[in-house]
Amino acid sequence: MTKPEKSWEKRLSGSIDDLAVGFVESLSFDRRLYKVDIVGSIAHAEMLAAQKLITQAELTDIKKGLIDIGEDIAAGRFEFDLTQEDIHMAVESALVARIGEAGKKLHTGRSRNDQVAADLRLWLRDDIEIVQTRITLLQRALVRLAEKYIDDVMPAYTHLQRAQPVSIASYLLSFVEMLARDWSRLTDCRKRLNVCPLGSGAVGGSTLPLDREKTAKSLGFADMTYNSIDAVSDRDFCAEYLFCCSLIAAHLSRLAEDWILYTASEFGFIRTDDAYCTGSSMMPQKRNPDMLELIRGKTGGVYGALMAILTILKGLPSTYNRDLQEDKRHVFAASDTINSCLQMAEAIVRHTVFNTDRIAAGLDEGFLDATALAEYLVNRGIPFRQAHGIVGGLVAQCEQENKAKLADLTLDQFKAACDNIEEDVYTTLNPAGVCRAYQTAGAAGPEAAKAQIAFWKEKLKEQ
Ligand code: ARG
Repeated sequence: MTKPEKSWEKRLSGSIDDLAVGFVESLSFDRRLYKVDIVGSIAHAEMLAAQKLITQAELTDIKKGLIDIGEDIAAGRFEFDLTQEDIHMAVESALVARIGEAGKKLHTGRSRNDQVAADLRLWLRDDIEIVQTRITLLQRALVRLAEKYIDDVMPAYTHLQRAQPVSIASYLLSFVEMLARDWSRLTDCRKRLNVCPLGSGAVGGSTLPLDREKTAKSLGFADMTYNSIDAVSDRDFCAEYLFCCSLIAAHLSRLAEDWILYTASEFGFIRTDDAYCTGSSMMPQKRNPDMLELIRGKTGGVYGALMAILTILKGLPSTYNRDLQEDKRHVFAASDTINSCLQMAEAIVRHTVFNTDRIAAGLDEGFLDATALAEYLVNRGIPFRQAHGIVGGLVAQCEQENKAKLADLTLDQFKAACDNIEEDVYTTLNPAGVCRAYQTAGAAGPEAAKAQIAFWKEKLKEQ
């Protein structure tokens, strides 16, 4: 078979340097756009036929040819030739090779500039739904885990210092909240990218009577773009998508960081399943949380993708420039990373148990009930600032007298610090009781956790 000729072969003389062929091609990574490219081409061809720019017979041939090509690619039968540069040229030249003249009409009123912009929007539209589904699955796993630990209390840390007692369920639900924002941020992103640039041509549009509305509608776009100059080089949606991915990665890395600490023997708060740990090649006793470390580490790559697209877009001359070909590399890489991290995080969450006995045994450390004692004083008429000072003094006194907890002080000692303290202070002084006593909306006690779990179960059912 003779080599299929390139559409611009009549314009450029000689053949392109092999080095340049390898350098300019994107087919090695943009072939994953093949389905959306074919779907987009079919919609474009249908519009061309409706506008009488091609005949019904030509449309039939084009559609059949494109579907065959799609099936061949899916089955791994399609031979990709990197001299074809990208998926758009590869599909088009295969079409011409298969159906002849009619294939040469497909690109009527179209440029790869509007074509690739449409493809990427279509691809991201689907990908966002996949990412959102994975977020929901992770949220469900977190809610299921939370349900097991509503009445179990753990220390919450601020500055990584013991702060206040919280329900383990509330701690887990804090990640469900973060992921809910990620989910809705993706919905916003999808909404904004769901407009069709097809018909913008290379930059100025077309002198042919294209029906852009029809193409947009048949591809399920909510609208079309309204300025061809902007449309061919707008990649804001890529930056937005990568920002969404970056925040997901940030949230996952925070969960990973917590759990890496919690598996350390110094904490001993959780045990993740052996299936998600590795050993050491040298130290026989090791059980390392490598999957969590990788979730944390892969965040770097996702942030890198965001920085890359922002840098590619910065100072780019108006309209399409080949720099934009690089967008896909970063979008695909971030998508792969985020999808695999979400899946891995879900698996880990499903196979983690909290060592509630060990956590409970350590609750007396760190004066977790100090804030509640200050609030006890507030209830007895002491201004909060003064109460804060009194309790601070009592904590210092405990430390001086080697008392592990405030409840170890005698009533006389309490009275010496503040006359308003009565015998009932001892009921306030226990972290689990403090946790149960939280009454503000959205607080981290078992009552609120129960309500939040009910809320999320309902909400995540629909999603
Ligand atoms: N492969 C190119 C990309 O991904 C397609 C558009 C090329 N357009 C052009 N005029 N060279 O951006």
